[in-house]
Amino acid sequence: MSILVSKQGRALQGDILVPGDKSISHRALMLGGLAIGETTIEGLLEGEDVLATAQAMRQMGARVMPPAQPGGQWRIVGCGVGGLSEPDGVLDMGNSGTAARLLMGVLAAHPFTSFLSGDRSLNSRPMARIITPLGQMGAGFVTRSKGRMPLCVQGTDQLIPISYELPVASAQVKSAILFAGMNTQGETTVIEPLATRDHSERMLNHFGAQVATSILDNGARSITITGYPELEARHVIVPGDISSAAFPIVAGLIVPGSEISTRGVGVNPLRTGLIDCLVEMGGDLSLDNRRDQAGEPVADLVIRGSTLSGIEVPPERAPSMIDEYPILCVAAACAQGSTRMNGIGELRVKECDRLAAMVRGLKAAGVELEEGEDWLLVHGTGSPPKGGMTMDVELDHRIAMSFLVLGMASDEPVTVDDGSPIATSFPGFEALFNGLGADISG
Ligand code: S3P
Repeated sequence: MSILVSKQGRALQGDILVPGDKSISHRALMLGGLAIGETTIEGLLEGEDVLATAQAMRQMGARVMPPAQPGGQWRIVGCGVGGLSEPDGVLDMGNSGTAARLLMGVLAAHPFTSFLSGDRSLNSRPMARIITPLGQMGAGFVTRSKGRMPLCVQGTDQLIPISYELPVASAQVKSAILFAGMNTQGETTVIEPLATRDHSERMLNHFGAQVATSILDNGARSITITGYPELEARHVIVPGDISSAAFPIVAGLIVPGSEISTRGVGVNPLRTGLIDCLVEMGGDLSLDNRRDQAGEPVADLVIRGSTLSGIEVPPERAPSMIDEYPILCVAAACAQGSTRMNGIGELRVKECDRLAAMVRGLKAAGVELEEGEDWLLVHGTGSPPKGGMTMDVELDHRIAMSFLVLGMASDEPVTVDDGSPIATSFPGFEALFNGLGADISG
């Protein structure tokens, strides 16, 4: 446990780089480990979640070589599609739902048995959403009660291709099925009523697989992978993580007089719901120099202190900003008027129940709010809340970071009981913010 305290500092000023995109980093290591030849990865997130994926790929025979200096280029020599070998021990996925769920798709399509475990948070999260489709394809699973980890995957190289409509909008479930579909004869299809992040589709195509996306008459997306591609080693450039940039973005908007710029942030349209919300709220936020980098759109961002107003966030925007609701709540708490967020039931099964955590913490900070099973209404007063509380972050990095940002604007300091989960996605968070003028101390 490492306590962190955040209090008002100076106006935030500076030019920063945010860590690499977590979703893309996991996928680069997994596909690099399944490709033939040496894949090189620039900008990989060197956070604990991604290092768990690197270690798992190593345990199954991929050669994963870190750079000589942190932040340099990673190299990975893969085993070919279907070519991983049985891991010699339990695969420890740490805090990472993405690592566990995407790898379950890979493991389902290999003819060996493997065991996955994680920390208290991950071992409490629902896995049935992954097990159901992979079970239909022919993989076997043994789990703790209610489909939770630790669990065992009994894979096979004789999976049956399926067409599966996602019952929840989840890029993790989609990706697990597509990854299993790689080592499956024929065509495996995922239908998603609401579009979710498409990094897997983009990267599979980048590595030479055939993934086709079409829009059905009812507006749903149908994504089909053709089995047995020859994945070829590639160079991958990982953009800055918009989900990490979200913290300096909101901090820059709510701390008066701030001006922050950050280069090379991923702005995939299926990830930028938070930007849309903040612009609607009146945030002074510009996206410049839009360009394409190894199949993903990126831009440079400039953020200036702003007066924000409350908005209504539509439910169909949720998949494009699912990890950003905690920090949006902080912006909403500082805005003038009410912000209503609809269709956010998925927040209850993230690293913790994020809806409950935000309600608890914001109430303790003096914010008025109303809560339903899948919605939240935050009543802002136009000035930052009182603060002055200690937040139990329940092993959730984004809850910890959101409350530290709140403390940069609130009247009294905000304490988080444990800042260590921040290392899963945003190593160097404290130093980066203090460099901008914040006051975070241990
Ligand atoms: C992710 C998908 C999202 C997101 C998670 C990363 C991914 O989860 O919350 O942090 O990389 O595919 P769900 O698929 O459960 O919505």
